[in-house]
Amino acid sequence: GDVRLWGGRFADGPSEALALLSASVHFDWRLAPYDIAGSRAHARVLHKAGLLTAEELDRMIAGLDQLEADVADGSFTGTIADEDVHTALERGLLERLGAELGGKLRAGRSRNDQVATLFRMYLRDHGRIIGGLIADLQDALVGLAETHHDVAMPGRTHLQHAQPVLFAHHVLAHVQSLSRDAERLRQWDTRTAVSPYGSGALAGSSLGLDPEQVAADLGFERGSVGNSIDGTASRDFVAEFAFITAMIGINLSRIAEEIIIWNTKEFSFVTLHDAFSTGSSIMPQKKNPDIAELARGKSGRLIGNLTGLLATLKALPLAYNRDLQEDKEPVFDSCDTLEVLLPAFTGMMATLTVNRERMEELAPAGFSLATDIAEWLVKQGVPFRVAHEVAGECVKVCEGEGIELDQLTDEQFVKISEHLTPEVRTVLNVKGALASRDGRGGTAPSAVATQLTELKADLVIQ
Ligand code: ARG
Repeated sequence: GDVRLWGGRFADGPSEALALLSASVHFDWRLAPYDIAGSRAHARVLHKAGLLTAEELDRMIAGLDQLEADVADGSFTGTIADEDVHTALERGLLERLGAELGGKLRAGRSRNDQVATLFRMYLRDHGRIIGGLIADLQDALVGLAETHHDVAMPGRTHLQHAQPVLFAHHVLAHVQSLSRDAERLRQWDTRTAVSPYGSGALAGSSLGLDPEQVAADLGFERGSVGNSIDGTASRDFVAEFAFITAMIGINLSRIAEEIIIWNTKEFSFVTLHDAFSTGSSIMPQKKNPDIAELARGKSGRLIGNLTGLLATLKALPLAYNRDLQEDKEPVFDSCDTLEVLLPAFTGMMATLTVNRERMEELAPAGFSLATDIAEWLVKQGVPFRVAHEVAGECVKVCEGEGIELDQLTDEQFVKISEHLTPEVRTVLNVKGALASRDGRGGTAPSAVATQLTELKADLVIQ
């Protein structure tokens, strides 16, 4: 039969070309459980407004329960002819309850306020799932930092040797950015905890329904929207979600890029576990960091989802426009992408082996202790401008002779500057360089231990 919701004023059914273009049921079907939950809440306010008897409400709820079970076990599904999930489920309800009762549910609501509400519910659930997966990754990274709490490595800027840092300090930098992502998700959730149900198509309803009750029923802690036009037409909650997921992808890609580099023969800082790396079909010796590469690649896809969505929203006049049907696939994809990526990524990070000897061998290389010479001179009362110059001179001499800073002789030191007494050697080792940076947030073992404690406390709350 004709399942259209607007049959009344139309003489002809939709062309097949229109039906194919219009259909969203193949991607919005995942909203079905939320649609049914919304219908239950809506039935209750219809009853409260005197538009359904108690007996009708009971039968309506029973019909929705049955429909929910049939959706869950796959015995009821939407088809392209249904157009979208909302229409399909109305058909399902009519089939189960008959047209008389089934036809009463649609009073006072529109697919416009429905979809805006259900989409929020779906994304809030998946925001929580993704938040949990981020916490798992943070746990793995914190574990990595704790296990290797005293390992030094070359810290880099411009990918060049800069100053030695603790490996744990570097790893925890990534935990910090993931903490902000998790916080962004929590703050977004609070902002999104407002229900558009009751907004109708755009103007609200004349039937005396209670949007606040629906909001409470559906778990929207902050009640219902204050403006029905905004409730049905705004999608900044989607764009913000897309941004947060893209930012998570970008943060993962920055870890990923380091893993890829650290895993090369030239670096040999880490070895990936067999279960989290892949081989080559032609080169028997290969062991590839595919998870990290896929993380890097998928971050581009997450960015694309965000920019595509923003392009859809740009310049859309109020209120609902059909363009808005394009809002779902990008962020559904962002959820799906992170929900498969994060567990694999966490597995990779939790199981990799750290090559401590290699990292520590390279920690002082590339004259990375030159700053320590300069700062030692400052402590002797030398102005930093001069100290910088002197330390640079030390590097120049070393480069000329092909030696490291600690291989300069006492004679060479005084020749470079009278201030360079043999005591300068106390800072020309990685341990001393690390320990000296003991201010808050620094790379000294004591400061990193404080950071670790703070992050672990944070993770418990999160
Ligand atoms: N499927 C639509 C969407 O996802 C909701 C239906 C609203 N359609 C309409 N003609 N008012 O945005």
